[in-house]
Parts: sequence; C-alpha cells; structure tokens
Amino acid sequence: MKELDQTRAPIYEALEEFRRMRVVPFDVPGHKRGRGNPELARLLGETCVSMDVNSMKPLDNLCHPVSVIREAEELAAEAFGAAHAFLMVGGTTSAVQSMVLSVVKRGEKIILPRNVHRSVMGALVLCGAIPVYVNPECDDRLGIPLGMRLEEVERAIRENPEAKAVLVNNPTYYGICSDLRGIVELAHRHGMLCLADEAHGTHFYFHEDLPVSAMEAGADMAAVSMHKSGGSLTQSSLLLTGPGVHPGYVHQIINLTQTTSASYLLLSSLDIARRNLALRGRTEFGRVMDMARYARAEINAIGGYYAFGRELINGGSVYDFDETKLSVNTLDVGLAGIEVYDLLRDEYDIQIEFGDLGNILAYLSIGDRPREIERLVSALSEVRRRFGKSKAGLMRQEYIEPQVDVSPQDAFYADKESLPIDETEGRVCSEFVMCYPPGIPILAPGERITRQILDYIHYAKAKGCSMTGPEDADILRLNVLKGAI
Ligand SMILES: Cc1ncc(COP(=O)(O)O)c(C=O)c1O
Repeated sequence: MKELDQTRAPIYEALEEFRRMRVVPFDVPGHKRGRGNPELARLLGETCVSMDVNSMKPLDNLCHPVSVIREAEELAAEAFGAAHAFLMVGGTTSAVQSMVLSVVKRGEKIILPRNVHRSVMGALVLCGAIPVYVNPECDDRLGIPLGMRLEEVERAIRENPEAKAVLVNNPTYYGICSDLRGIVELAHRHGMLCLADEAHGTHFYFHEDLPVSAMEAGADMAAVSMHKSGGSLTQSSLLLTGPGVHPGYVHQIINLTQTTSASYLLLSSLDIARRNLALRGRTEFGRVMDMARYARAEINAIGGYYAFGRELINGGSVYDFDETKLSVNTLDVGLAGIEVYDLLRDEYDIQIEFGDLGNILAYLSIGDRPREIERLVSALSEVRRRFGKSKAGLMRQEYIEPQVDVSPQDAFYADKESLPIDETEGRVCSEFVMCYPPGIPILAPGERITRQILDYIHYAKAKGCSMTGPEDADILRLNVLKGAI
C-alpha cells in the first residue's frame, strides 16, 4: 500500500483555509466566532473561538466522514498500524464503550480483569453483557493489582468457551502489562476477539523500548487516549480496529451515542498530535523514558520511597512495564499515597496524577522538562523530612475478589432501596463506588457488599480519597437491590 504523507494534518489545514475565507456565520455555535461571548473570547483567544465551528462541507462531518476527517483517520490508522482509526470526541470512555458494544450483546460473556476503568463497567450496564473476571494478582508489598496471567486467561476461556471477547488493560494505570501477544493468540485460537484499553498506552506505538502496542500484538480493537500521553486536547481519543473487524459496523455503534456536533478544537488537536507523534514520537518518548529513569533513581535514593520499575517483571502477572509511569510507593515514609498527593499540591504546588492508599503516580509525558523532575524529587525529599512518620496503622490496598450475583445491567435497572452504608453488608449493590482517579470500581452494580469492602471505603474516605459513583454524593448511603437476593 502507498505510504501516506504524515507531515499532513488535513483537518487542521481545512480549518486554516476556512479561517482565511472569512465566511459569515448564520449557523451554530451561537457565539459566532466569539463575538457573542467576549469574556470567553478573551479567555480562550481569538484563534481558539474562531476555530470552534460546526460541521460543514469543507470541514467534513465526524458522523459520516468523506473528506478531511476521513483523510485524518487514514493517517492516524497508518501512524498506529491499524486497519482503521476513528477520531473520538467523547473521551476514551466513548472509545472503550463503543469497543465493548461492538462485540458483546445482552447475555453474552466477556472475559476481563476486575481492575478495569468504570467506562468498561458502564458499557456492560448499557449492553447487558456478563463479565467473567480474571482476578489479577495483587502485589503484596505495593498493594496494586497486576496483570492477567496467561494461564488464568486460558482457564477463563476453557470455563467459558461461549465468551465473545477478552479485554486487556495495556497497561494498567501503574504501568503493568499482561502478555498481550499471548492473550491475543489464545483468544483468536478460541474464536474470540481481543480488545485493549490503551488509555495509558498511546506512546507504546512510537518507541521500540516500550511494551508492545495492541495493534502490533494483533489485537482486534484498542481505545487509545491521545489526550493522555499523546498530547491532544482533553477528551479527544482514538478507537483503532484491526483487519478482522468490520469498520462500518463499529461506526454504526459509535454513532449511537456520539455527538452530532463534534468539536473541531478536539478534532484538529487529534490531527496535529498524530502528526507530531508520527514525525517526532520516537525521539520524544526516548527523552521521556530517560527522564523517568533518572527520576526513579533519584527518588529511590531519598530512602523510604520505592519508585518501582522493570524489576517487577516476572514473565506472568507483570509481563512488561511501562517505564514512563513514575509510580512511587510511599508506605515506608509512613504516609498513604493520597496523603503525599495532597501534600505535594498543598505545600509544594505540584499536581500529580493520583494517590491511592499506598502509592502516587506522576504522569510523565512529552511536555515534561528536567527542571520539573528536579522539583518533584526535591519536594518528595522534603515531604519525607517534614511529614514522614512511622508506618504503623497504614492500610495496604488489597485485591478484594468480587462476588457477582446479578449482571451489571439487571442490577443497575432493578428495584432498589437506599440504605445507610453500614447497613448494606450482605446486600447486592446497584451502583458504582470508586476512588477517582483512578476510577476503578471498588463496587460495581450486581456485586455483593462485604464487611471488608465497607472497611476499605471508610478507610479510603478517612485518608482523603475522592470517592465517586453513588447517587448519594457524600457516600453515606448506598443503593442496594430490594429484598433478599
Ligand atoms: C484505564 C482507563 N480507561 C479509560 C479511561 C477513560 O478515559 P477518559 O477520561 O478519556 O474518558 C480512563 C481514564 O482515566 C482510564 O484510566
């Protein structure tokens, strides 16, 4: 096939051309290039508001791309080694949900790890599919869920031969990768598709020292957060498909929930970010890896902290590791991860990605510079000196094996009652509970509530984790299924 010209950015070029034409707007958006909302125009700048336009012939239409958006999708597909790429404007949530909705229907099974993002569980509520969980091992020292072992995936496939697909995190938020090639091979051998949540793996496509990407591993679909490590605007994302997936059908699924007013700010940011990664991604991510290695060594030299890395690789539950994820265990400093996360922001004006019970994650990407790394390292050293204490009483995150008694969809839509949280033990939950970020449900609809789960929720709240999910925003009450089940 003829190589495409990756220096092109068709949506961006069409927008520039459109701006030069000075077309008079009798269409939406009603701010009319910012004139109707001067404060907004001042905040965002003239270029930005004048590019916030609606679909029209010269700019194509995301719901039915035939010109510049189609070209941009073809360029993205080539850059990521996919058969087809869809530009997405509803976050990676919409990419994940379109991916799941494309392969499973009500009552059909999908094999997946329990430590998936809420968007995956949301897709199961929407389509009525049944989750078959492969329990990821938990690292006892770090208290983080690991990847899926090949043998465990094989067991799930053997016990559920009618399942339609296997979904894999590539990588997890903490940078842990499963043996994706092995899982793809297993899934295909049993007539199943393999889907990858690559919200944290955009950069895998652009450097050979990073773990294998979903498309290279032969996966059938991948949801890729361009806005995370790829450098595009927040909320923009990609859905990639392999040669065994019919793009026309996937597009129909996407259009069930996708806006008919896609933002050209988001679309052009995807186009420009793809061009940047195609032309400079390898150099940029090489630099990011160097910074992460340096930071890891410096943080480990402080004492108390453990910035973990490739030494975790064990050929099974940690098949590979994404070195750009600067995850640091904080328990030996006597502080929960979420406490260090808060201290870094409140005392040192440093915002990191998240803190959980035992770890923090600093997200390194193409916008980072060595001087910020130095600042993070010295702030961590100060935090230890000023706030470090004995680690007695700190709780380690544990993997809590879910007991799924009702399908997520049935539980979500069932007759329910709201109870004070401590009276819910033994009942079946009908909503989500999670710390956000990372957004991995502690409880999902259909799961039995246990004392261990309630203790975990209380502890996470007390430590300052930002809890989301339930109808009751204070999480004092939970919705459970009515009657004994
Ligand atoms: C693993 C994973 N998948 C999907 C998503 C959803 O991405 P978005 O926030 O772009 O909707 C996230 C967000 O953090 C995530 O961590």
